Amino acid sequence: MIPFRETYRDIPLYSPAKKRCRVDLSDNTNLFGAPPSAERVLREEGLQHLSRYPVGYAPDLKRAVAAYADVAVENVTTGCGSDDVIDCALRAFLEPGDAVAFPDPTFVMVPLFARLSALRPVPVPLREDLSLDVDGLVATGAKLIYVCTPNNPTGTVASRAALERLVDRAPGVVLIDQAYVEFSRGGDFMDLARSRPNVLVTRTMSKAFGLAGLRVGWAVGAPSLVAEVEKARGPYKHTALGEAVAVSALAEDVAWMEACAAEAVENRERLRGGLKVLGLEPLPSEANFLLVPVPEARRVGEGMRERNVNVRVFEGLAGVGDALRIGCGPWPLMATALKALKEAL
Ligand SMILES: Cc1ncc(COP(=O)(O)O)c(C=O)c1O
Repeated sequence: MIPFRETYRDIPLYSPAKKRCRVDLSDNTNLFGAPPSAERVLREEGLQHLSRYPVGYAPDLKRAVAAYADVAVENVTTGCGSDDVIDCALRAFLEPGDAVAFPDPTFVMVPLFARLSALRPVPVPLREDLSLDVDGLVATGAKLIYVCTPNNPTGTVASRAALERLVDRAPGVVLIDQAYVEFSRGGDFMDLARSRPNVLVTRTMSKAFGLAGLRVGWAVGAPSLVAEVEKARGPYKHTALGEAVAVSALAEDVAWMEACAAEAVENRERLRGGLKVLGLEPLPSEANFLLVPVPEARRVGEGMRERNVNVRVFEGLAGVGDALRIGCGPWPLMATALKALKEAL
């Protein structure tokens, strides 16, 4: 018998139910497509990036992120999606056996990444109104506290007062995951990453920027924090092509991204109206998705898949119960989802 790693024995492979569907609203990507400059970069520069290694630690991308986020290059790290940045941060700041605290429910990869690095995931339930339990998070004593805002899967946001209190009182690093910030009103906490020594804000090119397939994420924080994450990251986390497209999108496609985000938000609220007509009560959302409590969500989700619409099914979510998470984009897709849901119910 090969002596596999003990702590891995009970860790499942992460693979949410996916069936190829004509309409896939399950992963909150930009359903309008990829940013306009991507086509040009792929056409003009594609081949030249294939035979050489990218430059280590992605200096061009860091410069583009620094300009976009209005910080110095020393404040920026990047990774293979923000997934990777989060994973690197956990390894950078914690020793095996240490606790990682996070509100529950939140992004499912966080407890999984924690276990993959032999860390202890410590969920702290959101309060009944889905706000952060700051005292509960601080009381865990965790050297890294993760907070996602707007939160996946609820779509709800943390208040500035709660987050600032958390940052003031946390014994270590507060990682604020802002994968969906482009869809929120006033929910941007980049200023905390600029001003506080213990805050790392992660962002992604996968959602509003429409580049999920290229796997590019980034984070901003104090240079001392960033330097540790860079050690955990290592030199090559992007393809040269992914880096080049992300650079052009940050420089040239911000207006396009903002227009897509605004339309996704408008259609999200229109979808909310349609769901209410079906007797459902979606949670408030500042992301590009709605979480809709639905009894027997698995059965309903399968019914929608049979009708060629994929949404994300959650069963027994803390404080919510069974629910469907529906990604928002062009209205014709929303209309198709509503029809499939109505029939599946
Ligand atoms: C809250 C949150 N954070 C991070 C990610 C990871 O995104 P990526 O690795 O594509 O940047 C996701 C993806 O679903 C997410 O929902």
